[in-house]
Amino acid sequence: MSDQNHNASDSNDASSAGTLTEESFDGIQQFDHPLPKWWVWLFAGCLVFAPPYFWYYHNGTEGRSLADQHDQRLAENLKLQFSQMGDLKADRETLVRFTYEDSWLRVGRAIFKTNCVSCHGRNGAGQVGPNLQDDHYKNVSDIADILRVLQNGANAGAMPAWKSKLSTNEIVLVSAYVASLRGTSDGSGKPAEGREIPPWPQAPPKKASAEEPAAQG
Ligand code: HEC
Repeated sequence: MSDQNHNASDSNDASSAGTLTEESFDGIQQFDHPLPKWWVWLFAGCLVFAPPYFWYYHNGTEGRSLADQHDQRLAENLKLQFSQMGDLKADRETLVRFTYEDSWLRVGRAIFKTNCVSCHGRNGAGQVGPNLQDDHYKNVSDIADILRVLQNGANAGAMPAWKSKLSTNEIVLVSAYVASLRGTSDGSGKPAEGREIPPWPQAPPKKASAEEPAAQG
């Protein structure tokens, strides 16, 4: 039964295949099976499509790659969350509180990735700017100094001032993220600069916080 089927389909192929190719290997000849037209067109289409696509999305223009678009969505989402959390005060107490709020640190990390990585390296391991993972700081002796450095900059603008570029909420959250980086060094970052400072204040006692993003649904 299956043999018959096999033969039938073979002879089908033979009749539809048309011409034999010229070459013969040990007396075995092959049919000339051209690729289907649709396949060839698809292939040609891909060749035509790929270079402009690659050029458009991957030539380094801001905002075009998938990663950039993802960042933009994140930023929009951030605005939404900010509208729920209200205006934060850029003071020590608020900063200490947010340094221990994991869910908001993720937001701080997104702000850091967009604005700070170019100078402070991935995860703050240091590049042009100092390593933010160790216990040594140049312009910071208390946690609140992070806010001050962020707002006003440092070293005559080598560290830019951010108060006109980031909202107060963003400054608080990215400062909290910076504070949380302390102690995450694996030794591969930029060598320590400045002097060693006392540890950050402990986490404040947990009270039911109305500002947890999760609690906002
Ligand atoms: C143009 C490069 C540049 C960018 C962008 C930048 N920084 Fe800096 N940052 C520096 C430099 C350089 C210093 C060291 C200044 C000094 O020598 O006193 C510094 C210092 C700091 C310090 C103090 C560290 C210390 O040891 O005193 C903090 C905190 C900091 N930056 C956070 C940030 C954050 C957060 C961002 C993103 C919002 C950011 N920086 C973006 C260059 C930069």
